[in-house]
Amino acid sequence: MKTRTRSFSLGGLLLALGAVIATVPLLAAQAPAPAEVQKAVDAAYAQFKNLKEGKNADYIPALAKVDPNLFGIALVTADGKVYTAGDIKTEVSIQSISKVFTMAQVIQEQGLDSVSKRIGVDATGARFNSIIAIEGVRTVVGTGAPEMNPLVNPGAISATSMVSGATSEAVWKKIIDFHNDAAGRQLTVLQDVYKSESDTNQRNQAIGALMLAYGYIKSNWQQAVDLYTRQCSIGVNAKDLGTMAATLAFAGKNPVTGKQVIDPAKVHGVLAVMATAGLYDDSGKWLYLTGLPAKSGVGGGIIAVSPGKFGIAVVSPPLDDAGNSVRAQRAIAAISNSLGGNPYDYRPK
Ligand code: DON
Repeated sequence: MKTRTRSFSLGGLLLALGAVIATVPLLAAQAPAPAEVQKAVDAAYAQFKNLKEGKNADYIPALAKVDPNLFGIALVTADGKVYTAGDIKTEVSIQSISKVFTMAQVIQEQGLDSVSKRIGVDATGARFNSIIAIEGVRTVVGTGAPEMNPLVNPGAISATSMVSGATSEAVWKKIIDFHNDAAGRQLTVLQDVYKSESDTNQRNQAIGALMLAYGYIKSNWQQAVDLYTRQCSIGVNAKDLGTMAATLAFAGKNPVTGKQVIDPAKVHGVLAVMATAGLYDDSGKWLYLTGLPAKSGVGGGIIAVSPGKFGIAVVSPPLDDAGNSVRAQRAIAAISNSLGGNPYDYRPK
């Protein structure tokens, strides 16, 4: 009896060992080898370096002056390793990518419901600064189901108004600190962009006033529009944006600094809105192609998140008609698809 038990245990042990040995290559296969990651990044850089499609945004005059040839890629993995190609140092204004982090800050402070009930988490199907979209949702404000989201200008200005603080400077400090933590360094505002947008943002002022009139903003819409304009003018390079994307990819923890920036239980809400509305009215096409929650900015950056695998960002100023960087979309799609980054693309072995 004793002998039988022992031989059974030994067999079990051998089986378990066999299973572990068989699993190791599978697990290893899930995380691409560093050389494979760098190869994918380099290949996309070489493939799209000479692509000239698209045009810099010019409705904010300072953006028209940015070098359209600027092209940088940064991909960040769980171990905090940063894989790069091209120019990862030159800063552009973060623009609408800031909307993700201010939304995350409100969710972090006030919970997932705060944003879904007050602003909404649905696509508008309209351009990012559409006023018709605001008119379309005004009748449902207060029902808990506004057809709006924090990644289009009306929802983003409202989200900025929700960040708590006694003074404008106190609110600003919280906003910039949150962005700093996600990027892993002290960021600064590009003053020329801030001034240029402040001088020409009458449409956003109209949006802010309407959002107050319809109850999304509770008071002081002028402060909300000003802080929103300032957050859009934060200077970032491809490496900053890649690290910010990675903070979202790894349960709210910046893998480069190790700092927990967002509560892990809240990150899925942020990613859901990015998947729904991150590339505006082209969000569906993008999700169909890549499966990645992402966010673009008219400064030329795009961040994208493969949860648990990598965060990636590309900076390249020329945009398509929807306001999304042409080269950034192509490069991210190519890299992610070659590394198996699409979370919907499950293929049993
Ligand atoms: O409010 C604006 O128009 C800009 N500060 C941000 C717009 C933006 O980045 C839209 N992105 N695709």
